[in-house]
Amino acid sequence: MPGDESWHHAVTGDAIEPPASFAEQANVTDPDLREQFAREWPDCWSRAADLLDWSDDYDAVLGGDGPPFRWFDGGTLNASYNCVDRHLDERKNQVALTWEGRLGEFRSYSYLDLYREVNEFAAALRELGVEEEDVVTLYMPVVPELPIAMLACARIGAPHSVVFAGFSADALAMRMDDADSEYLVTCDGYYRRGAPVHQKNKADNAAIALDDGIEATVVVDRLGVRDGGESSDAADDAPLAADEYDYDDLVTAHRGETVEPVPRDATDQLFLIYTSGTTGEPTGVRHTTGGYLAHAAWTSHAVLDIRPEDTHWCSADIGWITGHSYTVYGPLALGSTTMLYEGTPDHPEKDRVWELIERNAVDVFYTAPTAIRAFMKWGEEHPASHDLSSLRLLGTVGEPINPRAWKWYHEHIGNGECPVVDTWWQTETGGMMVTTLPGVDDMKPGSAGRPLPGIDAKVVDGDGEPVEPGETGYLVVTSPWPGMPLSMVEDDGWFAEQRPLYPDLSEYDWAYFTEDGATVDEDGYVTLLGRVDDVINVSGHRLGTMEIESAIVGVEGVAEAAVVGGDHELKGEAVYAYVITEDGYDGDEDLRERIIAGVEDAIGPIARPEEVVFTTELPKTRSGKIMRRLLEDIANGETLGNTSTLRNPEVVEDIQSKVSND
Ligand code: PRX
Repeated sequence: MPGDESWHHAVTGDAIEPPASFAEQANVTDPDLREQFAREWPDCWSRAADLLDWSDDYDAVLGGDGPPFRWFDGGTLNASYNCVDRHLDERKNQVALTWEGRLGEFRSYSYLDLYREVNEFAAALRELGVEEEDVVTLYMPVVPELPIAMLACARIGAPHSVVFAGFSADALAMRMDDADSEYLVTCDGYYRRGAPVHQKNKADNAAIALDDGIEATVVVDRLGVRDGGESSDAADDAPLAADEYDYDDLVTAHRGETVEPVPRDATDQLFLIYTSGTTGEPTGVRHTTGGYLAHAAWTSHAVLDIRPEDTHWCSADIGWITGHSYTVYGPLALGSTTMLYEGTPDHPEKDRVWELIERNAVDVFYTAPTAIRAFMKWGEEHPASHDLSSLRLLGTVGEPINPRAWKWYHEHIGNGECPVVDTWWQTETGGMMVTTLPGVDDMKPGSAGRPLPGIDAKVVDGDGEPVEPGETGYLVVTSPWPGMPLSMVEDDGWFAEQRPLYPDLSEYDWAYFTEDGATVDEDGYVTLLGRVDDVINVSGHRLGTMEIESAIVGVEGVAEAAVVGGDHELKGEAVYAYVITEDGYDGDEDLRERIIAGVEDAIGPIARPEEVVFTTELPKTRSGKIMRRLLEDIANGETLGNTSTLRNPEVVEDIQSKVSND
């Protein structure tokens, strides 16, 4: 219990050993694995590739001297075959996907069910004209049809681009345009806290905004309206146009059909996913078939300790990379049961997550610190009212976790008996990079751990030199890894262009700067300190400040805007927008509402500013650069340092007086 001295004492020591009961049965138990991987690099990564079935064996674990870095060079495989077909012999009747909807509905698919529907939908996509390499955009909440569509795309070698369902029509259109995607799979709508969200309307608006049209749109009947459901909204009832197809009709029309999985080169693209960076527009990160899948499967095995008989619940939305790697590809590649939940954690009650874990006897639970902080706030009585003894391992991802939240999770959810893995990685890395091996490594609350075996990550100073323990620096990766994206595989210069390299990495043959700040201790444990670029992390969702700024300056009456992340008790960070109005406009409630609506239209509700502060000027350096650090400090109500280097120091007090630091 927090506050209970004995418990507190037990876990506030620097390191917590993995419980013996866990270590005895863990997938990885070799304490020398890091050394072994280092000695045998890159061949060590054959262990990850061995978790997969290959159509053609690869000739080399890492082909050539790189770049390009050809992981599993010469090998061919199919991701859908690896996640579905190959499990049929041993576990065709085992549950592959189990799903709970927002209204409490329940569906589950055995591996045989999954095999059938993936094949049927793959046949349907083919009939609609989808060919190998065509990008299919998937724009749906967490419903079983989403992973099914992903696997159907993978089966025919068509890269999917999943767009988070909460993104706006504009955000969808931008991504479809950028990817030259002419096929869309969406749904009529879905329920959020009991109220329908009209997803198809957003998709229709996106279609209007597209440079090229859409060849075909498949609509999943989620609201149940065309099947005689409840909604009285005429928009839901609208008949489908000639280039629109009902998902169920398609699957029914192709009942019983099978589609040969297309063998793909290990370095062929499996999917792309958009993420925010320092530039205005989000960028599509393209992942490979062999390297990515091997990395996702290996980390699911070695870090999440997943085995076929497990039920694994990764609570991230499938619209983010976490859902791709650890709801869909990793757990299914290992033949386990993966759980999908469409709803929110506090609806209908604040014990929803614990009820789901109890009812589904979840073995491994993987979630974000923002959720853990909310659980903490809601109170320990909610988990305490459920039997959580099925849990064996807990994980977190997406943002730094403070030791207090870590300890609460460990004690109140894991009963002090489940290791907690704090996993650092990114959309770009495809899979986990820095964390603990749960059966081997000690855990240190608040610190992610050491780089995984085979991963060369270090914390360096501005000259690229590794920092001394306790000093802060930049987290960089200095050797390639299997889950690296295609841009790095090909080394087309994209990354160098996108990312101004802060540390001088010229002494390394090759290096990737993660844009995270970090420190490292004497044991090599890395503690992450957050982004050093203009990316903010709201509830574990990555947003570019420039992206939000360009949405705000698009609103009539706005002259200039600066967006920063301010600390937020639950969300980690929240969006603070400082706005200068155009002459003739007042910074009033009307403009504030239009700004919020503008951000929601351009991106989606997740980017909604927590505060809009109207000001006559923004604090700028003498060279005219906006002092973002200062705006962050103001958002956080911190005492400000010397402002005399500003061109306009007088504006600071004015802005400060307008921010409510509650
Ligand atoms: O700042 C780091 C933070 O999330 C960023 C990556 O965001 P995204 O690409 O959206 O992927 C999130 C899920 C993998 C990183 O640059 N981050 C991620 N995991 C952690 C973290 N920060 C601290 N600790 C973590 N475990």
